[in-house]
Amino acid sequence: MTHGYAVIPPGLEPVVAAELAGLGVEGEVCPGGVRFAADPAKVAELARTMRTPGQVLLEVGSGSARSTEALGALVRRLPWKSLLHPQASLRVEVSSKTSALRFRENITRSVTSMVRDARKGAFVPDRGSRPQVEQLLQVRIVDDIATLSLDAGGELLHRRGWRTEAGRAPMRENIAACLLALAEWDGSDALYDPCCGSGTLLIEGALLAANRPPFAARTFACNEWPVANPAAGARGRQPARHGAAGHGPRIPAPPRPSPSRVLIAGSDHHAPTVQTALNNAKRAGVAIRVEHKELDDIQPTAVVGTVVSNLPWGERLGERVGGVYSAFGRVLRERFSSWRVVFVTSDNRLARKVDERVECLVRFKNGGIPVGVWTFLA
Ligand SMILES: C[S@@+](CC[C@H](N)C(=O)[O-])C[C@H]1O[C@@H](n2cnc3c(N)ncnc32)[C@H](O)[C@@H]1O
Repeated sequence: MTHGYAVIPPGLEPVVAAELAGLGVEGEVCPGGVRFAADPAKVAELARTMRTPGQVLLEVGSGSARSTEALGALVRRLPWKSLLHPQASLRVEVSSKTSALRFRENITRSVTSMVRDARKGAFVPDRGSRPQVEQLLQVRIVDDIATLSLDAGGELLHRRGWRTEAGRAPMRENIAACLLALAEWDGSDALYDPCCGSGTLLIEGALLAANRPPFAARTFACNEWPVANPAAGARGRQPARHGAAGHGPRIPAPPRPSPSRVLIAGSDHHAPTVQTALNNAKRAGVAIRVEHKELDDIQPTAVVGTVVSNLPWGERLGERVGGVYSAFGRVLRERFSSWRVVFVTSDNRLARKVDERVECLVRFKNGGIPVGVWTFLA
């Protein structure tokens, strides 16, 4: 049995493990990810459907990398012709920690040329079938043990395909999905984000509530894996198309937005950003309500529900933002009584300005900045 690995910033691994468990896959939490047993087709399916990981990898081999020869033997014994589409281009990315082999450029060059040699004879000169997605092979060497993994997404999974416009300081879509999971929001009560920016949290929420995959038009490298799609590589006759590269399940065009069972709504005081959120929602094919509103003017959209928000952080925007935090707490206490509140910020003191009862659920690094996810009952 092969293994998959779902990547997430350290601190958020249990959130990814919980999503996997909900899909019937038991995983082992490791620093920066969750490892699980699955065949290549299952790894590909998880990459196309999971909301929380930043990457889903297929581990293709592991063994000694004590010397160039040992690593070479490991690379040469892997079945590259069944792992890679005959015409796929390949990029190799290497990391090395506490190991004899530590010159990443040399390792990258030698692995690239060994895989190229191993694939000789597989090439089919048919321009029309050439995949558009580059395959990424990650070589991770720790304590002289190398693990080789193919990236099922090809590009990072937070790139859903629908957020082609963003406001200032947007949040990665998979991190937004993690916040919703930490808020235990499952689509059964109202969701509100009073600082919604480009609408990331609301759109992720609407897709979750509709039980739809988080992606719109985008490609996945795993659609081209012969090992996950037996017809790929052998068939290889149609050009890869936008939104569904050649083989594997196609991502359909956004369905007509259907009203959610619950109201998914938000607001922002920056008018152009409100339009950005609505445009993104349209591309995702979800119905959300977004209004141009100052935090002080927001009103609850239901008797009870969940507020999830990514408040402005001073670091990224270079602004004094203390007033936003105290207004957020005051307005929620006054008008959103009994709503569950979950927010993310980089500053513990700012978090405590919201409410003295706030509790930190989890800490992680977002774009290199340490942040906390905080909660309280309004
Ligand atoms: C960190 S950004 C949110 C980004 C959003 N999660 C996304 O992914 O695009 C914070 C947002 O809060 C909004 N904001 C800041 N102060 C506000 C206030 N007083 N009232 C309403 N919105 C405010 C900003 O315009 C900005 O869009």
